[in-house]
Amino acid sequence: MNVIVSRRAVLDLGLIAAATVTLPGAAMPDRTAGPQAGDGFVPVTDPNGSALRSEAIRRGVAPILAWPKDRQAGLVRDGARFNQVLLLRVVDESVNEQTDKVVAFSAICPHAGCLVSDWMAQTGRLHCPGHGSEYDPVRGGAVVAGPAPLPLPALPVRVVDGVVTVAGPFSARPGGHTSRTT
Ligand code: FES
Repeated sequence: MNVIVSRRAVLDLGLIAAATVTLPGAAMPDRTAGPQAGDGFVPVTDPNGSALRSEAIRRGVAPILAWPKDRQAGLVRDGARFNQVLLLRVVDESVNEQTDKVVAFSAICPHAGCLVSDWMAQTGRLHCPGHGSEYDPVRGGAVVAGPAPLPLPALPVRVVDGVVTVAGPFSARPGGHTSRTT
């Protein structure tokens, strides 16, 4: 049986198909995009691993260097070094010494863009080997030593069904104050 379809109907179907493929406002998965609300995290050392759960981030130990991961698309956002995040558990001073919380910061030093790769176990500070800046993760990534002009950008996170997820954008644009390249 032949079905006759008008040219107008064909055009309409084409428009519907196009609308299905590209929904207005729908974000395409992007490896270079910064962390997006709802993303999980995977360790840089194990990008194919499971999304990090809250219990994997322990108090008093070195932070986990992680990439955000679009969990729906299964896409690790490892296309830009500025997407690297430090995850750690710190005391929640707004409650008491016994209470802690998971916090996240950009791993890129706001001074000149080195990776903030050192953990100072005795003080609980983050240290940049580039020029010696130190940051206090308990006080929102505040600069406590060295030449950095700004705190580490904080990334709001929350725990959803045990998984640490992005809750909002960075508090400031990650990257060195003097230069920024991917
Ligand atoms: S790049 Fe970190 S202190 Fe200079």
